[in-house]
Amino acid sequence: MSAVDDAVLVVDFGAQYARLIARRVREAHVYSEIVPPTLSVAELVARRPRGIILSGGPRSVYEQPAPEIDPAIYETGIPILGICYGAQLLVRQLGGTVTNTGRGEYGRTRLDLVAASPLCPDWPPSVEVWMSHADSITAVPEGFVATAASAEAVVAALHDPDRRIYGVQFHPEVVHTERGTELLDHFVHDVCGGLANWTHVSIIEAQVDAIRAQVGGDRVLCALSGGVDSAVAAALVHKAIGDQLTCVFVDTGLMRAGEADQVEETFQRQFHIDLVHVKAADRFFGGLAGVTDPEHKRKVIGELFIRIFEEVARDMGAGSGGDGPQFLVQGTLYPDVIESGAGQSASIKSHHNVGGLPDDLAFDLVEPLRLLFKDEVRAIGEELGLPSDIVWRQPFPGPGLAVRVTGEVTRERVEIVRAADAIVTEEVRKAGLYRTLWQSFAVLPDTRTVGVMGDGRTYEYPIVIRAVTSDDAMTADWARLPYDLVERMASRIINEVDGVNRVALDVTSKPPGTIEWE
Ligand code: XMP
Repeated sequence: MSAVDDAVLVVDFGAQYARLIARRVREAHVYSEIVPPTLSVAELVARRPRGIILSGGPRSVYEQPAPEIDPAIYETGIPILGICYGAQLLVRQLGGTVTNTGRGEYGRTRLDLVAASPLCPDWPPSVEVWMSHADSITAVPEGFVATAASAEAVVAALHDPDRRIYGVQFHPEVVHTERGTELLDHFVHDVCGGLANWTHVSIIEAQVDAIRAQVGGDRVLCALSGGVDSAVAAALVHKAIGDQLTCVFVDTGLMRAGEADQVEETFQRQFHIDLVHVKAADRFFGGLAGVTDPEHKRKVIGELFIRIFEEVARDMGAGSGGDGPQFLVQGTLYPDVIESGAGQSASIKSHHNVGGLPDDLAFDLVEPLRLLFKDEVRAIGEELGLPSDIVWRQPFPGPGLAVRVTGEVTRERVEIVRAADAIVTEEVRKAGLYRTLWQSFAVLPDTRTVGVMGDGRTYEYPIVIRAVTSDDAMTADWARLPYDLVERMASRIINEVDGVNRVALDVTSKPPGTIEWE
């Protein structure tokens, strides 16, 4: 039986909460998947889960309509843990009382244990937990006892150990809850009997088997972008099927410094993967000549990328019915799968207008990362021996440096932004901030400013330094970089990059700004 057949399912009443819970369960080495509350009890039972967690969510059980789950779930004998909204829901559905007392609790809160619980067998009588609730549980359902209380929650935890149904008002999944990880650990291992079989090694083994079973003796194509997802996907597929895999790297001339060399070094020389390196900078600069509108740039780059990929694939016999490649590797991650409807197959990302490949080539998709969160992808990349430079690389937009050069994209201007970007990256790394920052890079605006260097007047480009912190790129905050770091970057850029006489710092968050300039 594989780890995936041994799951603790998280019922999603609020995506952010559910994701964090699933990640914590996986950190306890038990596979966890997120399912929608609309799944029928028969479908849930058919998955034979070890346990079920009802997640927290932003709604009140009194809202109409409040998201619910079929109460028949409580009769299945499957262990259940309700967290926050999930706890209130099970209390209400089983005949207890949830009241809007007008006194919620938010943030760090003291919790007192009032009865023994298998979820926290060795806790001290009082611990600090993270609360976020307006409504409170005021009466437990028949058969339940309260096991913990806080100042504003007479029932901050409850259980019916005979039926193995548990509820906690606080959030064990957040780091601010002391010993919260332990609580989830006790639930998935002691209560549910989950086996600790979701490990990086077991993930790799299971995916290698699955890829072999899917692909058989056919050939497989993979477009490498230089980013972490396609790199880890390629390394996994290569481990499974060796030289049945061909990787295609389209060098657009719009990559970061050293990126093309690193892809070649890693995949060709280190992993001995069959790599087609298409040096296509001329075609991209030709297509971009005279183009200044950001969306037009994306379109030109996306179309050229697709055309070049098609040429390579057709040269290899794809789509001809012969022994050409039948499969295409796609680095789809679990959050993409959830967003496109849990359990349904993910379509090729449409917002990735570069790397979004043509569908008329009629490939079957191989998606070895579709069960994984980003942090798991990185851990697996390291386990597979990919260099940490690739595994920990900051996100980079598909259209590359073209969206960091406003106005016309010429070779000369891309050289300038690439050189400045390399300095920003080097200094950020030296300051130990590369992994803390979501992205840090240089932008070249389409303007020149007057300066003075030596005895002479200059009239050259400025460089803008952009550095942000973020969890998911949906929102971002401008990074408060130390001044001495900003100073080092600025003076190196002006001294070392020809054509630049001024440096500015972008202090715009998202919203209202986007992370990229175009
Ligand atoms: P924005 O600039 O919209 O970017 O705040 C959010 C995140 O997406 C990346 N990005 C792109 N990625 N193709 C991509 O594959 C694109 O066209 C593209 N535009 C932006 C950006 O780097 C950031 O991480």
